[in-house]
Amino acid sequence: MFVFASLLSLFAASVSAMPTLSIRQNGASCTGLADGSTDSPLYNFTLAAYNTTSSNTNSTGAPLVLGWGPAGTSPAASERAISTYAAWHSDEWPYFTLSDGALYPVPGPDESGLGAYDFEVAPGQEVAFYVTTHESNPEPALIYCAAAHDGYLVLAVNNDADHFSLCQATSSWSNTVLVYEASANNTNYNYSTCYPVQVNIIALDA
Ligand SMILES: *[C@@H]1O[C@H](CO)[C@@H](O)[C@H](O)[C@H]1NC(C)=O
Ligand SMILES: *[C@@H]1O[C@H](CO)[C@@H](O)[C@H](O)[C@H]1NC(C)=O
Ligand SMILES: *[C@@H]1O[C@H](CO)[C@@H](O)[C@H](O)[C@H]1NC(C)=O
Ligand SMILES: *[C@@H]1O[C@H](CO)[C@@H](O)[C@H](O)[C@H]1NC(C)=O
Ligand SMILES: *[C@@H]1O[C@H](CO)[C@@H](O)[C@H](O)[C@H]1NC(C)=O
Repeated sequence: MFVFASLLSLFAASVSAMPTLSIRQNGASCTGLADGSTDSPLYNFTLAAYNTTSSNTNSTGAPLVLGWGPAGTSPAASERAISTYAAWHSDEWPYFTLSDGALYPVPGPDESGLGAYDFEVAPGQEVAFYVTTHESNPEPALIYCAAAHDGYLVLAVNNDADHFSLCQATSSWSNTVLVYEASANNTNYNYSTCYPVQVNIIALDA
């Protein structure tokens, strides 16, 4: 009985301590990340890359969009990688949502009828999505978290917000892509061009 009562008061305390913004639940994709992290922020957002070791043009970071990634293996689906707007020059997927650890780029008017679904990101790989016709019951990997960091939120994948880099793609089209744990062994980008970034989550007004 005593245990039950103190559990209840613990629950009440944690509810009242919750920030009013954004917290719905905190699933496995946020395990090990700071209090206030969430796998389902209740707003749409854009992403921006912030140099962690070098200078930044502004305090928010460089805007990120979806560009072409490495060539896909399925003829029906193609891969898109998170890319800098500065390199890709257009923004066909204007914002993102994050739900239960699945990150969804949201199609703009030119991509209507399509869906972009995330999948496992191994060390060394680009942070990418399969783009295909919209699926009513997709099964994306539940691996992303909006991680609390110094009072704002940053993107984490595989419970890790600290090992993203921007790298120049080696594809026949020019692009700068977001990579998780950049490695000299991956030939889809030029490792010597990589530099570390933090990926800021920038909430859109509802
Ligand atoms: C990061 O710093 C490098 C070197 O100063 C610069 O070339 C690059 O554009 C910066 N990237 C971002 C995302 O600010
Ligand atoms: C500063 O960052 C914001 C948000 O990412 C972006 O929209 C804007 O273009 C950036 N400004 C410059 C000068 O890079
Ligand atoms: C790169 O590949 C070599 C040879 O397969 C391997 O020994 C090394 O551990 C790999 N490095 C990374 C960072 O994965
Ligand atoms: C990789 O980038 C470096 C620095 O820009 C460049 O010197 C080198 O030639 C590039 N390597 C390849 C294989 O493109
Ligand atoms: C986020 O975007 C979705 C469409 O993808 C929209 O239905 C929803 O109302 C938006 N949520 C907010 C809080 O703006």
